[in-house]
Amino acid sequence: ASLAALDDTVPAPHRVQDRTRPEPPVPAEDFASTPDTDPAVAVNRAWGREILARVPGSRAGAATVAAARLRTEDELEEVVTAALDAGRGWAGLSGAQRAAVLHRAGDALAARRAELLEVAAAEAGKTLDQSDPEVSEAIDFAHYYAERARELDDVDGARFVPSRLTVVTPPWNFPVAIPAGSALSALAAGSPVVFKPAGPTRRCGAVVAEAIWEALDAAGIDRAVLSLVDLEERALGRQLIAHPAVERVVLTGAYETAELFRSFRPDLPLLAETSGKNALVVTPSADLDLAAKDVAHSAFGHAGQKCSAASLVVLVGSVARSRRFRDQLLDAVTSLTVDRATNPAAQMGPLTEPASGKLLRALTTLEEGQSWLVEPRRLDDEGRLWTPGVRTGVRRGSEFHQVEYFGPVLGVMTAETLEEAVAIQNEVEYGLTAGLHSLDPAEIGYWLEHVEAGNVYVNRGITGAIVRRQPFGGWKKSAVGPGTKAGGPNYLTGLGGWVPAAPRG
Ligand code: ALA
Repeated sequence: ASLAALDDTVPAPHRVQDRTRPEPPVPAEDFASTPDTDPAVAVNRAWGREILARVPGSRAGAATVAAARLRTEDELEEVVTAALDAGRGWAGLSGAQRAAVLHRAGDALAARRAELLEVAAAEAGKTLDQSDPEVSEAIDFAHYYAERARELDDVDGARFVPSRLTVVTPPWNFPVAIPAGSALSALAAGSPVVFKPAGPTRRCGAVVAEAIWEALDAAGIDRAVLSLVDLEERALGRQLIAHPAVERVVLTGAYETAELFRSFRPDLPLLAETSGKNALVVTPSADLDLAAKDVAHSAFGHAGQKCSAASLVVLVGSVARSRRFRDQLLDAVTSLTVDRATNPAAQMGPLTEPASGKLLRALTTLEEGQSWLVEPRRLDDEGRLWTPGVRTGVRRGSEFHQVEYFGPVLGVMTAETLEEAVAIQNEVEYGLTAGLHSLDPAEIGYWLEHVEAGNVYVNRGITGAIVRRQPFGGWKKSAVGPGTKAGGPNYLTGLGGWVPAAPRG
């Protein structure tokens, strides 16, 4: 019942029919999800082809990055001091004043949609079907956090004090939405930000920063409120994280990175979204056609390089015993077009970095008792472009059951009962996303009660959380810190703290 109620209150985003015309601005105080581009419309496909044609040799975002490279401790100190100075004025604004800047940043991101798609394809190899919703999500974060900023003004008896300085270290797999959401949330809370984009996707980060600067400029606010940095030496990263002025580090990355950051400073106030090992369960009552499609999409979207991706599918009872679902999955997976993002027909693009280590092993070797339903093939010399892999016979407690690989390889497991399937889902250290395909209300109720994951999805894929509709964040070792969810109503409160306010009047 609660799922149905949620769907009633939040209108589903529509899709834009003609991306060559500007979208009307989103009305403030009336949050509506930003529409994705509808690829079924010919004019949008032509628009997309033009963007992809610019990708070889693309320099979008390059100038800003070159300007922000820090080489020495003194340069780092200068950036921190400037951010703190600018931050005092920023924190002094009301939430409503900050909201106006954030709405403007959302519009500036929307105006850069084509540029963001270009640079995400150039740097990260993102296909348009993956990058377009990511840009929509970035815009959603701006408008949504703008309205949450206003709410910080309205609490009787308490005053919200933002972190003095926030460091934002986003990942390379969502090089637009996560940097935008992380930086904008801290700004909405009233904190100045030092933003260090992931190495492989610096230019995406730079375009996001440019959009936010445009909004700051328009309001006459010092750009140092958002400092974009690129660190020449790894040691400078350690100094930045451990800097005493830093009161919050917003990290999205591997759990090991959170541990590394903590080793720099044991009392580090982290707000981290970390690893996942996510499974989707399919029961005999499920719509198997829909389930096969959702599994393939969740496992192989952006070549599986998502913390939210389906790494396992658990087939229950007769679904496990018959060939039908496996054959559907085989069809769905082998019909994916795999190519560079510059090919408009590509449905699965390359890895951002060549496969190595545990991912390379997962793409090339089986554990005992496993076999390939679909064997992955490498299509290039570099090791970035792989066809998707599906292995069957994954056993409980095996490496493949428990390890996150972050690439295009899915494992099939089987269970006699739903209870056993949930136990398999829960027997991992992480708890980020989880899915169930079932049309039986009793099964759905049981599963929702027992599954241990931050984001749970019924009869839908398990990637692509939507701001406000599906606030995103993990459980167990998938989150470190206050556990507030990105794109949810409480996220800003994790970026500062409440103190008693002087009585009014
Ligand atoms: N928020 C991203 C997703 O839901 C990670 O796929």
